[in-house]
Amino acid sequence: MSEQLIIQGETKQERYEALLPQIKAVVEDEPDLIANMANVAAMLHETFGFWWTGFYRVEGAELVLGPFQGPMACTRIKKGRGVCGTAWLKEETQVVSDVDKFPGHIACSSASRSEIVVPIFQEGKVIAVLDIDSERLNTFDETDRQNLEQIVKMLS
Ligand code: SME
Repeated sequence: MSEQLIIQGETKQERYEALLPQIKAVVEDEPDLIANMANVAAMLHETFGFWWTGFYRVEGAELVLGPFQGPMACTRIKKGRGVCGTAWLKEETQVVSDVDKFPGHIACSSASRSEIVVPIFQEGKVIAVLDIDSERLNTFDETDRQNLEQIVKMLS
């Protein structure tokens, strides 16, 4: 596998299309989930220049901070709390165009303005979430949801 990430594309969809096979190549022969989360966070972060890109893992009744790229973040989040805890509780992706309008949003960083959180399933249960934050409003849409849901499937 090449260790250099080369992503070209005019549109967001084109860049996801270039990124997906490269993520697949990196994770498919590596069984360690933490190692794969670390590379996926780095590849997404580098490709799109998000503010914060990372994972929280389910540990008992809480989400615990996992591999990420960006500024330091909250370590533990309870089920149902914030955008991450809501994605876990509802077992569905949360696309938040303005975090100030999301009741209970946890402001790890005051710079974060919009967010997407995608749950990761193993044997029908949420085992982790992918959380991406942007310092601009309205960053995430259906294109991100569909592609990120495909990307996290490669981790389970
Ligand atoms: N804002 C998130 C917390 C995690 S950080 O943004 C990295 C939330 O409300 O779940």
